[in-house]
Amino acid sequence: MKTRHYAAPNEVMYHIGFSHEALRGATMAVLPGDPGRVEPLAKALGNDPIYITSHREYTSWLTHIAGQPVLVCSTGMGGPSVAICLEELARIGITHVIRFGTTGTIQDNINLGEVIINKAAVRLDGTSHHYAPAAFPAVASFTMVDALNKAALEDHIPAHVGISVSSDTFWLGQERYDSFTGYVPKVFQGTLQEWQALGALNYEMETSALFVTAQVLGIKAGAVCGVVAKRTDSEEIAPNDVYDTAFARQVKVTVGALKQLLKAGE
Ligand code: URA
Repeated sequence: MKTRHYAAPNEVMYHIGFSHEALRGATMAVLPGDPGRVEPLAKALGNDPIYITSHREYTSWLTHIAGQPVLVCSTGMGGPSVAICLEELARIGITHVIRFGTTGTIQDNINLGEVIINKAAVRLDGTSHHYAPAAFPAVASFTMVDALNKAALEDHIPAHVGISVSSDTFWLGQERYDSFTGYVPKVFQGTLQEWQALGALNYEMETSALFVTAQVLGIKAGAVCGVVAKRTDSEEIAPNDVYDTAFARQVKVTVGALKQLLKAGE
């Protein structure tokens, strides 16, 4: 189980399209889903942003935080592309990742534009089941959750720490009735209320795959998501200004966490 297939320094990874050399020593990565968010995120997070490459759903930049290189790489949507990304990042030497996503809250006390730090996730995805049996938990690294939470507290960011429900589907698995057919299979009917009663905070589509894959690969993973839907009010996605508010807050939390981790020599 201890085998580690590290890539040669100049070996270009098949999906993400770059090699260890492009990291210039970076061991930490910030992972948004959307390739279009990578450039603005690299610029907002740090200094001297450098474009690396763009291949399929994986767009990558390097930024610098506290003088240290940090990778920003999109994962695309859903578990499969997250797992592919992590497999290749592990091979080129990434050891710590922070998912930087968007999410819909299912709790009434959480508002649009606020931030959710996930410490664990319900595995309503397929990918994580290829990595570990269903009884295996999808949990974040304590180190990462602690750093993200401390950063949020220090910056007075409205943030909530809790469990996500990670679904392979945006409509059915998240019990949305505004899909093309409007039909939600019986297996998902009533589930929003159930997750809510059990205290889960939010729906999104990547975190369970990230946490399980990271655990298997020996990577420390955390996740900070911006709330862009409030499912206790409506099935709709919020307008752009909510995205912008959440983005700015997530940036502060992510930078604060990375500074702590880099200072601690993680
Ligand atoms: N992403 C999701 O998967 N669900 C939401 O409600 C919002 C963002």
